[in-house]
Amino acid sequence: MEFPKTNHFDKNLVRAKIMGPNTLKLTEELLEGELIAPGSIVLDLGSGCGISSAMLAREYGLVTYAADLWSDPSQNMRFLESLGLTNRQVVPIKADANVLPFAHGFFDAVVSVDSYNYFGREPKYLEYKLLPYLKRGGRILLAIPGMVRDCHDDLPACLLASWTPEQLDYMHDMAWWRAIFEQTPGVEVTDMREMSCTQEAWADWVECDNDYARGDRVAVKAGALDYLNTIKVVLRKS
Ligand SMILES: C[S@@+](CC[C@H](N)C(=O)[O-])C[C@H]1O[C@@H](n2cnc3c(N)ncnc32)[C@H](O)[C@@H]1O
Repeated sequence: MEFPKTNHFDKNLVRAKIMGPNTLKLTEELLEGELIAPGSIVLDLGSGCGISSAMLAREYGLVTYAADLWSDPSQNMRFLESLGLTNRQVVPIKADANVLPFAHGFFDAVVSVDSYNYFGREPKYLEYKLLPYLKRGGRILLAIPGMVRDCHDDLPACLLASWTPEQLDYMHDMAWWRAIFEQTPGVEVTDMREMSCTQEAWADWVECDNDYARGDRVAVKAGALDYLNTIKVVLRKS
């Protein structure tokens, strides 16, 4: 695949900032079709070290709130400033996706890359804890690490080479996620598909020089990507 916007970022910097499969490639594929107009106010939910937020602000012209639970917003702000971004473009904030500190109807759109499976598996999460913060007609774009087919009853050895059954319980197939979205009132599923960049996004991640990437490399080398995918979801608040 071609990733013109991802290519504007230094490869070493990307390796230092991603926390899983290449966030920039996932974000770029997720936003294909220009679903969010420049100037929109966007929540980057589970934004990690802020590299996807940098892309949303710099490459797409979105005013981006980078909300994350585990990372340090001050450190993220310094990183964003080092890329030439200002607090008019990105607002890093420490926040729990379960208790978002914003006004209802505040955001034009929500983007969440490699994070939604941490909090969105609870069936009522979307209706009660996320949708209220989005404007009517607003979109939610998700890139969810998933399974080609749920295999929790008979987990293959290649997956267990790096992850426990409890960790793998965060991953599900498209049918499992679709059932959650379709039972949620006030939202319409406008697109749902396997993302094309999964293999190369993982290849970029397992090359990274950190213990998490080295740990994941074992499963990938054993064939885990035959079982894993990334699920693109586009929802529209009605
Ligand atoms: C695998 S990392 C991905 C980070 C980033 N999106 C990326 O792709 O590099 C998952 C992120 O989800 C965030 N997260 C997990 N639970 C969360 C919650 N309840 N509220 C907000 N963020 C959460 C973590 O802080 C972490 O940064």
